This record gives sequence, C-alpha cells and structure tokens, in this order.
Amino acid sequence: MKATAIAHPNFALIKYWGKSDVEHNVPAVGSLSITLDGLTTTTSVHFDFDLESDHFTLDGLERPEMAERVSGCLDLVRGRAGVDVRARVGSENDFPTAAGLASSASGFAALAVAAKEALGAEIGTTELADIARQASGSAARSLFGGFVELRLRPGGRFPTETLQILGPAEWPLRVAVAVTDPGPKTTGSTEGMLRTEQTSPFYPAWVESSEADLAEAREAVARRDFEALAEISESSCLKMHAVMMSARPGLVYWNGTTVECLHCVRKLRAGGVPAFFTIDAGPQVKVICEPDAFDRVTAELASIEGVQRVLTSGLGDGARVVES
Ligand code: PMV
Repeated sequence: MKATAIAHPNFALIKYWGKSDVEHNVPAVGSLSITLDGLTTTTSVHFDFDLESDHFTLDGLERPEMAERVSGCLDLVRGRAGVDVRARVGSENDFPTAAGLASSASGFAALAVAAKEALGAEIGTTELADIARQASGSAARSLFGGFVELRLRPGGRFPTETLQILGPAEWPLRVAVAVTDPGPKTTGSTEGMLRTEQTSPFYPAWVESSEADLAEAREAVARRDFEALAEISESSCLKMHAVMMSARPGLVYWNGTTVECLHCVRKLRAGGVPAFFTIDAGPQVKVICEPDAFDRVTAELASIEGVQRVLTSGLGDGARVVES
C-alpha cells in the first residue's frame, strides 16, 4: 500500500480567485492554466495499519499546519476506497514552497494520485480531479498536462470539471519565472480570497467577467494565437490583482522588482518579442514566451536588479505515478 507520484505546478492564465462554497472549496470562477515540466513535487504515500494518525513531512520537515489539509485529501481517497487506514506522507519540492510558485497545486495533485495508486482505488480522472480540487482549487489542473481548463458545473455530479484543452507538444511555449523573493507569501490564498469576497466592491464584477475571459482564452489557445492569449492573460492577471488590492486591508503581493519585471515584459512585447506575464498570490513574475524568444526573455529578466534567480521550464505532463 505504497506509491510515489510526481506532479508539476501549473500557472493560471485566466485566474481563479474566490470561492462560491468555502466548506467544499468550490471556486467562484473557472480558470485556464498551463502545466510546467521544469519544477517538480515528488510525493510518497505509505498506508500502514500500525499507524494511529497520518504523518506528513515536506522537504524532510514535519509541517503540522498543513497536516489537516493533507489528511482531508487522504480521507476523500480512503472514503472512495472504503478503507480506514492512516498514512505516512513524504513530499519534496525542488523549488521554493508557498511563495506563489503553485506548490500547493503540484503537492495536492501528486498526493491524490499517489494515494489512489497506493490504495488501488477505482477512481476515474474526473473524480480524482474533483478530490484534488477540494484540497486546493488549482491542484485539479496539475493532474493534466499542457493547457488545462477548470470549468464550473453547477448542478452536475461534481461541481467542477477539469480537462486538457491542448497537449504540451501541440503548442510548446516556454516559461521563465523571475524569483524576486523566495520567502513564503504573506497572506495565504484562502484567507486572501475570503477577504476579497467580503470587502472588495469590485468582486462581483470580477466574477461576472470571468466567463467571457475564459471563452476568449480558450479560443486563443485553439487558434494558437499568441498575441490574443497574451492580451487576455495579462488582463485577467491585472484584474485579479486589482480586486485583491481593493480588499480591506488591501492585498499587495507585489514588491518593487515585480513591477520592474512587468514593465520589462511589456516593453519586450511592444518591441516584437512574443512574451507576456502572469503573477499569482506572491511576488514572482511568470513569463510565458515563444521558444525563439526564450533566451532573450531570460537574459532580460536576469538583468533586472532585485531578480534573485530565473527558473526556466517548458510545458509538461500531468501528475503521474512513478513507483508503486
Ligand atoms: O488553489 P489555491 O488555493 O492555491 O489558489 C490559487 C490562486 C491563484 O494561484 C492566485 C490563481 C490560480 O488560478 O492559480
């Protein structure tokens, strides 16, 4: 009853921010993302009848503050498998954790896949994505590779459905991440989302406009129209940060270097370099570009004062079992 799975982070181009059902972690908006191949979470799950409780380590350290979410995810898999057995879970990230690099997405995707495999549970992909979604909204997207959409399905068997809309090799874009501060983020996404919903006067407009953004991005991906995807992705990112900033107290995830990077990317694109940015609940700037522009983009980002390192990646596959 032991298995190991790997998963990669995904970056949303059309963002998820806000929950329609906090208890069941149902997102208020759909989202569209790309799954990376460069950064990796490796998670091993070992179910053992001798254990009295679940044990969880991240990068070799016990993380009690995360244990409840891990056990919650395991409970869903245990419930479907019909067994009552505790597990020892060890997870390793080869990149900074909780710094807006989508470590919860890759973490819970790898956990769901490893736990299902270890228990031999008969769980279909749609349901497994829904289990990962309950642990972390963005985790469902890391179950799939390439371009991925999470759709809302109100009244459906599951409240969301996640699917690949284009494979990683069908439009092999590259990604550079300008790390401007590797420390953990100041406000976690759940707390930040709740504050935004409760206090931002712009939150209803954010939710209302998301379906149109998704449709535009979906069409741009289908046409492999880089410029159209760049425009709608930057718009969704800036709109999300605007609604975050308009909460009380306002959520400002950026630092000065974040803003420098954003201007750098805009200037590059204005000069004909196919690149655009996205930023999540942290100060790192993720830049998506055509393969030919990659060297130029990474060199420009690395030259910005305050950029500590530039992580690079292509687009990759979804979460998968590596040992069972
Ligand atoms: O899945 P969570 O709770 O880590 O929230 C993800 C929120 C953003 O990264 C800011 C946006 C997104 O769609 O990934």
